[in-house]
Amino acid sequence: MKITIIGGGSTYTPELVSGFLERLDVLPLRELWLMDIDAERLAIVGGFVQRMVEARGRPFRVILSTHQREAIGGASYVCTQLRVGQMQARREDEYLGWRHGLIGQETTGVGGMAKALRTIPVLLNIAKDMRETAPGALLINFTNPAGLIVEALSRYAPDVPAVGVCNVPITTKMRFLEWLKESTGQAIAPERAELKTLGLNHLSWHYGLTVDGKDVWPQVLAMAIRQAKQQAHPDWEPRFLESTRMIPNYYLQYYYYTEEKLREQRQWPPSRAEQVMRIEAELLRQYADPALVDLPVGLMQRGGAYYSTVATQLITAHYNDLGETHIVNIPHGGAVKSWDARWVLEMPARVSRHGITPLPADPLPPFAFGLLAAVKSYEILTARAAAEGDLEAAYQALLVHPLGPGLRKVQAVLEDMLATNWPYLPQF
Ligand code: G6P
Ligand code: MN
Ligand code: MN
Repeated sequence: MKITIIGGGSTYTPELVSGFLERLDVLPLRELWLMDIDAERLAIVGGFVQRMVEARGRPFRVILSTHQREAIGGASYVCTQLRVGQMQARREDEYLGWRHGLIGQETTGVGGMAKALRTIPVLLNIAKDMRETAPGALLINFTNPAGLIVEALSRYAPDVPAVGVCNVPITTKMRFLEWLKESTGQAIAPERAELKTLGLNHLSWHYGLTVDGKDVWPQVLAMAIRQAKQQAHPDWEPRFLESTRMIPNYYLQYYYYTEEKLREQRQWPPSRAEQVMRIEAELLRQYADPALVDLPVGLMQRGGAYYSTVATQLITAHYNDLGETHIVNIPHGGAVKSWDARWVLEMPARVSRHGITPLPADPLPPFAFGLLAAVKSYEILTARAAAEGDLEAAYQALLVHPLGPGLRKVQAVLEDMLATNWPYLPQF
């Protein structure tokens, strides 16, 4: 079996590879292709990965490639974790928001939109290579904005099976289990628990947790409320938790506490991209050390920790037809009655060899639905702008976004976004 990683030169890649190495008994991986257009970085990260695999008896081959089509040909799974324009482009996304007094963030708001416009054409091209050289392979997308990109793939490359993933659901589940452990003294293996969550990627609401099928949400919620009441600056006001009985994805802070988030970003530099550039430089320095064969601790300073667990569990469940439940981004296909069946949602789905099937879920209550519908409208318009080069769609996407600049400034922000990213926007 062949697995391909597009963006294989990412500093995250060694974590993913260690995930594969831990699952050799259930995943008969023969060839792992790491593809990246940055040959220098690929050589450093790929070199370290080859040493990691070598140190464990070389159970599979690791092939480094700068040719996308060759890397994809014959693959069973293609994981995308690329960053068009690299970290410098993320920095530009953050400062695009900053310049205009808006949230400046990798996935949320104008930064996420700019990233989507750069990235979607590249992903559609990957889907094309998959269609032609790896028919039936599953595309597993980590590239942000992860949900919006799958929204575009499902509309503009519907014949290529694709799913989007994020580490927030798994880290959230682990955090809730940690709380339960603190109160009961008993550790609960993550496989025994299922998190109930619904929404969009980085715009979801957690509303349930079961352990061995038993509902433990009242306990989790009570602990969240108790903690919130003890803290001077809780993530979420206790009143909110009591009223909604839901716990939001932490990215919702950009919507619910916009003013505070703007105040924080007035302290830049360093923005998050600028911090990550430093972390990455240090990681690359360590990866280049021929003596290094184990993951450096610095990797856990990145927000994407545990993404390898998400990816490898998903691939294992799919390959072995396990019928497990995993939280993914996928068109819900009517699983949430009364919502447009084409919408890509982040939600639990049954994973088997024949496909990934979203599990039926009740629609979110009105307090959450309003925001979700507005952001979904923004996503659909952004997907159209990115895939078709439709400038009016881009203009209207900015107009509908709840964090948007407001009509007076939409055109100015759009012009800045396009000018700043011009080398990466062939569709316009
Ligand atoms: C979380 C999100 C990812 C995001 C990451 C940022 O894990 O789920 O989608 O990319 O944080 O982490 P970073 O270290 O790059 O700021
Ligand atoms: Mn994410
Ligand atoms: Mn089956």
